[in-house]
Amino acid sequence: MIQDGKIYLGTSTKPEYLELRFANRHGLITGATGTGKTVSLQVLAEGFSDAGVPVFAADIKGDLSGIAAVGEPKDFIKKRNELIGLDVYENRAYPTILWDVFGEEGHPVRATVLDMGPLLLSRLLELNEVQEGVLNIAFRIASDEKLPIVDLKDLRALINNISERSKELTTTYGNVAASSVGAIQRRLLVLEEQGADMFFGEPALDISDLMRIAPDGRGVVNLMTADKLMQKPRLYSTFLLWLLTKLWQMLPEVGDMAKPKLVFFFDEAHLLFDEAPKALMERIEQVARLIRSKGVGVYFITQNPLDVPDTVSSQLGNRVQHALRAFTPKEQKAIKAAAGTFRANPKLDTEAVIKELKTGEALVSMLENKGEPSIVQRTMMRPPEGRIGPLSAEERRGVIEYSPVFGKYEDAVDRETAHEMLAKRTEEAAAATPSPGSNWSDVIFGSGTSSSGRKTQGVGTMVAKELQRSVSRTVATMIKNVIMKSIGLKR
Ligand SMILES: Nc1ncnc2c1ncn2[C@@H]1O[C@H](COP(=O)(O)OP(=O)(O)OP(=O)(O)O)[C@@H](O)[C@H]1O
Ligand SMILES: [Mg+2]
Repeated sequence: MIQDGKIYLGTSTKPEYLELRFANRHGLITGATGTGKTVSLQVLAEGFSDAGVPVFAADIKGDLSGIAAVGEPKDFIKKRNELIGLDVYENRAYPTILWDVFGEEGHPVRATVLDMGPLLLSRLLELNEVQEGVLNIAFRIASDEKLPIVDLKDLRALINNISERSKELTTTYGNVAASSVGAIQRRLLVLEEQGADMFFGEPALDISDLMRIAPDGRGVVNLMTADKLMQKPRLYSTFLLWLLTKLWQMLPEVGDMAKPKLVFFFDEAHLLFDEAPKALMERIEQVARLIRSKGVGVYFITQNPLDVPDTVSSQLGNRVQHALRAFTPKEQKAIKAAAGTFRANPKLDTEAVIKELKTGEALVSMLENKGEPSIVQRTMMRPPEGRIGPLSAEERRGVIEYSPVFGKYEDAVDRETAHEMLAKRTEEAAAATPSPGSNWSDVIFGSGTSSSGRKTQGVGTMVAKELQRSVSRTVATMIKNVIMKSIGLKR
């Protein structure tokens, strides 16, 4: 429900709203498990969609997918609506596109290795600084030698290639230590075994497909299935960070707008920050800071507000804090910290309230007026209009097949890239020198065609031709002599 550029969130002593003009100033949804984070996310996502703003969200447990189905008029929802005084309420489905890195529960999402870049890839491969240096060299060589690195096969071939040429490369590019190459190759294999090779390839995701508006004017809700992806937290967090970086690079500068162009929800956000090396932390901070002016709002969802480092946290203006438990000293510390981030309400003991909040109830503070946070309010959140809970497998199939991008990404394509190009180079080099292990008849008569299907004339072929020529010369002389003898002429 959109009123005067605001999304209605729920009711405290008054209705609480998120102002669309401040939606690009990012946000944070926190709370212990089962307290209502996913439903709050759904409420926000529906609000943005209604306002004509497309949304991208990771669907960790699959329970956000219900947004694509008509909600059910259950008693607890009716009661909640009465309590908060919401009389304009309609159960309805939201226009949704489902995505899945593994291509099973949604359209496949792919990126090229080149697009991912050495920084994110190093994080994904858990490389140390020296190894990252080698990866950087690989990317530079790929660019200098015009070798497209699309999938992991390409990267492996390239790394092999630079390891073979390490001596020649050292002067121009720097040291390519064999131990680093070995480490990268091993990590690449592990990554492939984890199924990440599904993610690298073409057709790569076209960012404009995430920014669709449905025919009825609502923003499309893009959900990325993440339950399987969550078993590979590195891939999950790197993927989302890649997507953010890509959005930031591709979208034009727009400054402050009446509403955002896209809103991005990053669930289980702690995974992004866990053990993140300095370079990566800087990238996250930078992207969060700068993507605002591209009209993109980023909302992090995590259990503990302390999961988000201060430098990022200070950029998150719109906040929904669900209940936190206070069993351990660490949890008590989190409550204190969370309470401290709010603009105090003299009528509320924020710290005490955080512990008391019921399911679907939250402390809410949104940016208002000139962009300052509103006084924190204890808010009963509104129910969403789509279904609370997951889609069935059959419903999911329906959403996928009905989608406007169905067929665009389903099949991978494998064009000639670094892997094939380097293989060709090796073959050509091999064809130019007979290898000692080659079959003798090959050397003599030549195989004629290389395994890449091209005609070659190796040394073997040349030797054979010369041999044939001299044999023919000898035979011809013998025949000539016989003929001359037989007709009585001497040579
Ligand atoms: N705003 C709301 N309106 C109606 N029901 C709600 C609301 N918020 C939460 N609930 C109820 O609480 C249940 C749990 O909420 P939710 O799934 O959002 O918790 P969560 O914090 O995401 O939990 P987890 O950490 O386990 O993912 C919902 O299934 C729903 O029944
Ligand atoms: Mg949840």
